[in-house]
Amino acid sequence: MAGKFDVYIFLNFFLIVIGHELKQVCILSRHNIRTPLTANLEHLSPNIWPAWSQEPGMLTAKGARLEEYMGDYIVKWLQKEKLLSESCPDKDSILIYANTRQRTRQSAKAFVRGAFSSCNVNVHSINSEEMDPLFNPILRNTSDVLKNVIIAEMQQKLNELQLKGSYEDLEGIIDLKNSQACKMNNICSFVDTKDVIYYEIGHEPNIIGPLAYGNSILDSFLMSYYEGMPLEQVAWGKIDSSDKWKSLAEITKANQNVRFNSTILAKEVANPLIDYMKALFENRNAPKFTLLHGHDSNLNSVIAAIGFKHYVLPDQYETTPLGGKLVFQKWHNKELDLYLLKVNYVYQTVEQLRRGTKLSNENPPRWVELEIAGCPKDKQGYCLWDDFMKILKDI
Ligand SMILES: *[C@@H]1O[C@H](CO)[C@@H](O)[C@H](O)[C@H]1NC(C)=O
Ligand SMILES: *[C@@H]1O[C@H](CO)[C@@H](O)[C@H](O)[C@H]1NC(C)=O
Repeated sequence: MAGKFDVYIFLNFFLIVIGHELKQVCILSRHNIRTPLTANLEHLSPNIWPAWSQEPGMLTAKGARLEEYMGDYIVKWLQKEKLLSESCPDKDSILIYANTRQRTRQSAKAFVRGAFSSCNVNVHSINSEEMDPLFNPILRNTSDVLKNVIIAEMQQKLNELQLKGSYEDLEGIIDLKNSQACKMNNICSFVDTKDVIYYEIGHEPNIIGPLAYGNSILDSFLMSYYEGMPLEQVAWGKIDSSDKWKSLAEITKANQNVRFNSTILAKEVANPLIDYMKALFENRNAPKFTLLHGHDSNLNSVIAAIGFKHYVLPDQYETTPLGGKLVFQKWHNKELDLYLLKVNYVYQTVEQLRRGTKLSNENPPRWVELEIAGCPKDKQGYCLWDDFMKILKDI
């Protein structure tokens, strides 16, 4: 096969355009804009927090609209590449599968409204209010050996964090020194407080300490901003530049980095999703198009388990933007009878989220090409499908 890939690289170099056909797409997506996850932040600031009309963690009406735009945009791309036709898709040719949370189910429904408005397309979701095991990024293996390895990975990540500047900005914005948390519980500085690793079978890997507080606070700021609240209501008007946002968002990134972005940890918590995706790619009768609607933890752990190289998402503050999509594409080159993989991160920018703009070819979401270590890509971003499948099998 490597020989064939060499021929392909050679042809590609001279011919530039080679006819690849899109054969299968599997998207792993984060839900779109939701209400903040933590309702109870009063003790961390003397300031008044903005009010939300829905319970914590719910997809907002704006989040639903933005996900409709994504659905409309993505299906037009799938039609342009002729994976889907302009008519309604056959029942077995597509699968839309959401985790049980309201925000993931409603995101998937919104995507379907945007993508297949006049068709009868169901969103599959298991009949339970508990997390679907497929999307649940929890620790399952009771081995103490594994526990020690994973804790060491998390500790290593914690040790490498450099959040002093971000924490100082944050403490100033919330006025931590005048909060209940400082007066009653002696939490008066994030900079000088240590994080503690929380490791329990049946739970997500977690952190207790400033990183968790900071993440909850940033979640509230980011969601108010994306939801479109007036600037004086977003962090009380105290974030006045995109540099400030970037500095603060380091806390959000660090939280995901510590909890879901180490290799052994990721292989453990993302195991069900990896197995499911592998089966989708191995099964000849699998749907041509699959959308899996989950959480940032799902994207981050799958990315780490597969071994994607470091990437940067322009015009975004987070590493897993709201409504952001990992788009796994299987392509076929007819001349060489060669299967190829391409993976893009497709996401709405901070501006597109805040303004709520409709997506189109003139106002597209960002497409960032990703690369997997062990699946070297060519100039157009393709790598060998067999290399990819080998990586999945070895996880
Ligand atoms: C749990 O982890 C240990 C140590 O890595 C490994 O030997 C064992 O096979 C794992 N068990 C399961 C059920 O995966
Ligand atoms: C995940 O970890 C890798 C290796 O430490 C690092 O290069 C990458 O930036 C991290 N990704 C995120 C999203 O934090």
